[in-house]
Amino acid sequence: MTVIATWEIAFQGVKIARDLLREGKSVEDAICGLINQIELEPSFHNVGYSGWPNQDGIVELDAAIMNGDTLSYGSIASIRNVKTPVSVARLLVDEPYNNFLVGPGAYEFAMKNGFKHEELLTEPAKKRWLEKLAEGRNEIEGHDTVGAVIASGGRVVSATSTSGLFMKWKGRVGDSPIVGPGLYADSDIGGATATGVGEDIIKGTLSYEIVRLMGEGKSPMEACGIAVKGLDDRLRAKGKTPREFSVVAVNKDGEYGAASNREEFPFVVCTGDEVEFLISKDFGKTIEKRKNKYDV
Ligand code: GLY
Repeated sequence: MTVIATWEIAFQGVKIARDLLREGKSVEDAICGLINQIELEPSFHNVGYSGWPNQDGIVELDAAIMNGDTLSYGSIASIRNVKTPVSVARLLVDEPYNNFLVGPGAYEFAMKNGFKHEELLTEPAKKRWLEKLAEGRNEIEGHDTVGAVIASGGRVVSATSTSGLFMKWKGRVGDSPIVGPGLYADSDIGGATATGVGEDIIKGTLSYEIVRLMGEGKSPMEACGIAVKGLDDRLRAKGKTPREFSVVAVNKDGEYGAASNREEFPFVVCTGDEVEFLISKDFGKTIEKRKNKYDV
């Protein structure tokens, strides 16, 4: 079994996924358990409940899950008032059509399927939004989308969840719910997922590109590095300054990789036993082990 996820906020979630797999639960149960823990944690402001709002002070969430056995997926974008959008996305995976629902349609689907209508904007998030407005500042801010990949028992599943960019426009959607840039999984090869500025990640179809490279025989670490450096280089060659993007990946044999165009990119991995907090540097050429404040 290998469980990998973006950012240090995933530490407890990766432990939950490991334990669910040990109990014999499905890969989908494990990956949703991982992501639900982060979505429901009020101190994490980039995913689910308590996410940073858009410019209008409304929290709009995106999420997706992809089953690498069948290439089936469920995606949700711009959903309001539902704390755990990845669990809503999961219900769409086996639908023959309607795999990607947005806004009011996504919300109505969630309500019909027993999800509760809940306020997502918490006091700390509202305070920060009001401060920004008072200062007359509405610039976009980055975020820590959670993306996870699990390879276990011959299966590969990827999933994401995010509140997107702080101060985004109403209705703005990034890479996270889009199969190709935000996540990809093929149980014959492996899976990948991205975090960072969706507008740039989409330009490189980054997660699919990593799975494609692994399918050509690259290791996950090589594939992550080539894909991230390649997109960074292509954007620069076209006169653009790349914004931040980072990726994690696992192949079907459970080997993992991570890379980023940031100086340091934290991620969490478990290959069966210990849950490790690691830092990727130099486009994935250097991986360092660190202590993590969420390791309690
Ligand atoms: N990567 C998340 C977003 O851009 O919304």
